[in-house]
Amino acid sequence: MSRSDAIGPAYDSEDLEIREMELEDIHRVFSLGEQLFTADKWPSLYRTWDEYELVGLFASDGDFCFVADLDGRIAGFALGTLIEKRRSAWKYGYLLWIGTDPAFRRLGIARRLVDRFTQQCIDEGARMMMVDTAAENEGAIRFFRQQGYGKAVRHVYMSRNLTNLPSYKRRRREG
Ligand SMILES: CC(C)(COP(=O)(O)OP(=O)(O)OC[C@H]1O[C@@H](n2cnc3c(N)ncnc32)[C@H](O)[C@@H]1OP(=O)(O)O)[C@@H](O)C(=O)NCCC(=O)NCCS
Repeated sequence: MSRSDAIGPAYDSEDLEIREMELEDIHRVFSLGEQLFTADKWPSLYRTWDEYELVGLFASDGDFCFVADLDGRIAGFALGTLIEKRRSAWKYGYLLWIGTDPAFRRLGIARRLVDRFTQQCIDEGARMMMVDTAAENEGAIRFFRQQGYGKAVRHVYMSRNLTNLPSYKRRRREG
């Protein structure tokens, strides 16, 4: 019995294709991201997930944007970039966004997306991969650990409300 037969909605692994994201996929990837990166659950992810982020990544790093196409339905995505440091032989793959439709979780879809993304990074000369997520995102952290990621470094996001600043109020008044 294959993993996909074992739990969740049955899907035939032959129906699942990991492929590069195409222009026509953008709105579906965007709405799946809207469903996953919500303000109540992951405020920092919610703030940075928007159309400009997605369209910008597609334009600049289309070779590093993948979707899981399950018989025409977008079941997941993995979006990232390759970082090249000047005066350094090292290149880093950076997985910025990964998500699986809740209806298709724990079926190996994200693992296949990461495998494809990783292969692309290797093909483009990367020697290391980086991922990040919110510290409370235990599911994602367990997933990344299961994919071989470790050496976690804590990173702190801070925010400041600008609406009490005189220059903010002035700008609002001036329209
Ligand atoms: C994290 C996420 C992408 C995993 O997607 P997925 O397709 O369900 O993951 P996979 O089925 O490929 O998981 C492979 C393995 O990772 C581990 N894993 C995945 N999700 C896990 C979870 N929530 N808790 C514990 N372990 C988990 C398991 O070992 C799993 O294998 P198993 O199911 O045989 O036990 C998905 O939960 C998701 O979309 N989360 C919301 C978006 C998000 O937080 N993205 C990360 C920040 S950008």
